[in-house]
Amino acid sequence: MCAPLPRSLRCGRTIAKCEGVGMEPARQGLLLDRVVLVTGAGSGVGHGIAAALASRGWKVAVNDVDADLAHEVAAEVDGVAVAGDAYTDAATIVERCVEVCGRLDGLVNNAGKLRGGGLEALRHDEVADVMNLNFEAALKLMQHCLPHLEVTKGAVVNITSLAAGASQAGTGVFGASKAALASITRQAALEWGPRGVRVNAVAPGFVRTARGEATSAGTDIWEQRRAVVPLRRIGTPADVGAVVAFLLSDDAGYVSGQAVVVDGGLAAVPVPGSPPADPE
Ligand SMILES: NC(=O)c1ccc[n+]([C@@H]2O[C@H](COP(=O)([O-])OP(=O)(O)OC[C@H]3O[C@@H](n4cnc5c(N)ncnc54)[C@H](O)[C@@H]3O)[C@@H](O)[C@H]2O)c1
Repeated sequence: MCAPLPRSLRCGRTIAKCEGVGMEPARQGLLLDRVVLVTGAGSGVGHGIAAALASRGWKVAVNDVDADLAHEVAAEVDGVAVAGDAYTDAATIVERCVEVCGRLDGLVNNAGKLRGGGLEALRHDEVADVMNLNFEAALKLMQHCLPHLEVTKGAVVNITSLAAGASQAGTGVFGASKAALASITRQAALEWGPRGVRVNAVAPGFVRTARGEATSAGTDIWEQRRAVVPLRRIGTPADVGAVVAFLLSDDAGYVSGQAVVVDGGLAAVPVPGSPPADPE
């Protein structure tokens, strides 16, 4: 029988699966798969990551603070919904994931947010709000997952951003939070490598999502962005998902402490004043 869940973790479908927790794990049909927990997977980039991993045979534990979204995506990818706030419920999310799935082979810290604004007027509750999710939730989840990943010789992928290394005015502490996440990615690779756990990051450039689409409605921001990306297209959640899947796979078994930039070449764009890259 499952222990009662905190109200904030509303995961009805998970409880239904959880009723079989007392069964021999293999009979639940879950232990045959490698299991990955993806945070913020109910929409956007995280949804793309969940779909990419599921299509490559992973059993995906779909986390989102929005329980309905978590359940929708879990049903779509034949995974398990583990709803909850990645910051406040980090311990329970990992506990529940392992309880239901029986093991943990991967963690993708994808949940993140951007609160815009110039630095001069930035309030400290806004700083905490962004740092708590983009940095500290990821650290907490890594800590809670480590004992399980050590058993399976698993891997972590943290979703940072091009903004971790390139400043953008008016984006509050988003870049700072991602730089901090990039830093602990390298540090964890150093500290946990001897225990068989790999830790890497994926740094997306522009990725088109439903939420981004909604906030930029009525502007030509996507066309402006497309025009500066060397590959002349905006990234998709599937572009990011494919690289995450590689980093979690055995093909990346000797890759740790790295950040893979997925930006269509944007980071290679020359500084203003350089000769044009395109001779036409
Ligand atoms: N979209 C881009 O262009 C882009 C570029 C660079 C980096 N990123 C990074 O990719 C990640 C995903 O971005 P996105 O654009 O898909 O964002 P999004 O806002 O579209 O989706 C984020 C998802 O996370 C969920 N979420 C929010 N707070 C949560 C919490 N506390 N706990 C659990 N889930 C929570 C939301 O409900 C939502 O489903 C973020 O870390 C973001 O910084 C995105």
